[in-house]
Amino acid sequence: MSYNFDEIVSRENTFSVKYDGREKYFGSTDLIPMWVADMDFKTPHFVTDAVKQRAEQAIYGYSFRPDLYFESIISWFSRRHDWTIERDWINFTPGIVPALNILIQTFTTEKDKILVQPPVYHPFFSAIENNRRELVINPLALENGRYKMDFQDLDAKLATGVKMILFSNPHNPVGRAWEPEELKTFGNLCRKHDVLVVSDEIHCDLVLPAFKHSPLARVFKEYSEKIITCIAPSKTFNLAGLATSSIIIENEKIREQYAEMIEKLHIGMGNLFGTTASIAAYTKGDDWLDQLMIYIQGNVDLVKDFLEKRIPAVHLIKPEATYLLWLDFRDMKIEKSSLKEFMIHTAKLGFNDGSTFRNGGDGFQRMNVACPRQTIESALVRLETAVNKLKT
Ligand SMILES: Cc1ncc(COP(=O)(O)O)c(C=O)c1O
Repeated sequence: MSYNFDEIVSRENTFSVKYDGREKYFGSTDLIPMWVADMDFKTPHFVTDAVKQRAEQAIYGYSFRPDLYFESIISWFSRRHDWTIERDWINFTPGIVPALNILIQTFTTEKDKILVQPPVYHPFFSAIENNRRELVINPLALENGRYKMDFQDLDAKLATGVKMILFSNPHNPVGRAWEPEELKTFGNLCRKHDVLVVSDEIHCDLVLPAFKHSPLARVFKEYSEKIITCIAPSKTFNLAGLATSSIIIENEKIREQYAEMIEKLHIGMGNLFGTTASIAAYTKGDDWLDQLMIYIQGNVDLVKDFLEKRIPAVHLIKPEATYLLWLDFRDMKIEKSSLKEFMIHTAKLGFNDGSTFRNGGDGFQRMNVACPRQTIESALVRLETAVNKLKT
């Protein structure tokens, strides 16, 4: 079956953060929103059919997650990522960010050191700082247009007594799908310093056709008892509004402590439409996802070619995964604060400003290309026109 990713679906007046939140976030509504990490594509019909069928029953009382829910997750990760997950390891969370906060609160105490690798997904910082933990940074290194982990610096930072790492795999926003060798070196350092690793793999399914996702806990099995993996159908199938995700914890003691927190907060029931959608997505979603990633690769190629030919001062960091592109504007020599203004008011584009992702983010913009090609074309033309205005 062929899916139509070219379809333009209006998202205005649907309480969409990306669209209806433009005024609040950018102070303007007349920009093309390419920020929040959700997609402008419809979730596949087999998911909406399942949700509609459940909705038609018309009683939305208390519910639990059935065997099929767990089986569909286990089967998906086995066939798509060659990773064997046991049913007991699967723990519920309404979202990955709430889980990051719960994990920080449960397994560290105030002033404990937690390490991140910027530029990185900004709620990592707020989860650490809001919980009054000490932020330790191990910046990624940009070498010949490709981001790498700085293992020497990581070793030195971990030696200062870091308790936990928030790891992004694949990495948002720089788009790396970390390779097994890199993950082993990373894992060995975590083991050397006995650090608890929270591997946020929410983008694991969104890997471009030439690349592969490697789950850290599979690649570095020797240390999997100290690795907590965050997974979700939300990014993959555009279901973030259904608040249904999982935290994979192999270590029984850690699992019990996590489960106790979920129980105390009484948030374990979740959302029954999320359960229904998750089962349908993980059971029937292979073909749709494969086609989606081919379409996204087409969008990436379009951005790359357009920039090279028509806006050569802006460089695309070659993405390996995610639908979020990391664009380097530093050759344009616009001042940090003016780049943000330029994007909003001159280009009229709602990208994420690179500084949001902190160290190493200044002079960059994050562009979400999970949208019909026509939207990408309009955005690129707006950008070209704005850049040309600067020259006059
Ligand atoms: C790396 C990463 N983790 C977590 C999230 C959000 O997770 P949730 O919506 O489940 O809290 C995102 C969303 O963009 C993300 O990029």
